[in-house]
Amino acid sequence: MRHKKINEVKTIFNNISCSYDFLNSLFSLGLHRFWKNKLVYLLKPIDGEDWADLCCGTGDLSFLIFKKVSPNGTVTGIDSAKEILNIARKRSKLIGNKYISWEMQDIFEIDENLKNYDGICMSYGLRNLMNVEEGLKKVFNLLNNSGRAGFLDFNHSKLNSLADLFQKIYLRSIVVPISKFFQLSKEYSYIEKSIKSFPEGNKLMLIAKKVGFKRVEYRTIFFNQMGILIVEK
Ligand SMILES: C[S@@+](CC[C@H](N)C(=O)[O-])C[C@H]1O[C@@H](n2cnc3c(N)ncnc32)[C@H](O)[C@@H]1O
Repeated sequence: MRHKKINEVKTIFNNISCSYDFLNSLFSLGLHRFWKNKLVYLLKPIDGEDWADLCCGTGDLSFLIFKKVSPNGTVTGIDSAKEILNIARKRSKLIGNKYISWEMQDIFEIDENLKNYDGICMSYGLRNLMNVEEGLKKVFNLLNNSGRAGFLDFNHSKLNSLADLFQKIYLRSIVVPISKFFQLSKEYSYIEKSIKSFPEGNKLMLIAKKVGFKRVEYRTIFFNQMGILIVEK
């Protein structure tokens, strides 16, 4: 079951890799950049720090964090899907950035003894993990003693709330039909399913506390459509 879900997620992201950035910008009308910038603003990475962008996809957050931690800090982008990570590598080459390391790896397989990050960020990754609590625990173990982390994802709003209805209509009437043109409707139908099994904000905070984080904060943005979880050790 575990491997089935891991392979399902990997296949989805390998399949959509070529259209991923284009569709992301189209479906969010470019707003995903603003939301990612907001996450970085809240995390306040500074020059000299070592950061990891887990589930980095094509690397948007890695590039944003790099601007803040360079020239003395480091950024490592980690993703388990080869095709999507290749796009991150190509983007790096295109802009002549040799300093971000890209690692193809399942985040659950990262050796905790070798890593000691000042900060970790993740956008639209936590919801796709096999187990959210295990994901947060992994992040906790990969951070140094005063480390912090931030997660941007869809907000799982209350059933039948305005935000919930808007999200369903948007996904069913806009996202899935448009993705059909790209023969990716099956892959994009997965978003609604994954939001349904993703914990609501309050629950996410409880899980983060249980895992051991001392400071935990959750806020919603864009009319409760997206959520940002910030945690500190
Ligand atoms: C929706 S994409 C988000 C990509 C990028 N962070 C962004 O915001 O555009 C989710 C990414 O998580 C990766 N992923 C899912 N489960 C993973 C795991 N267990 N380990 C590493 N990467 C994983 C997928 O391959 C995919 O690239």
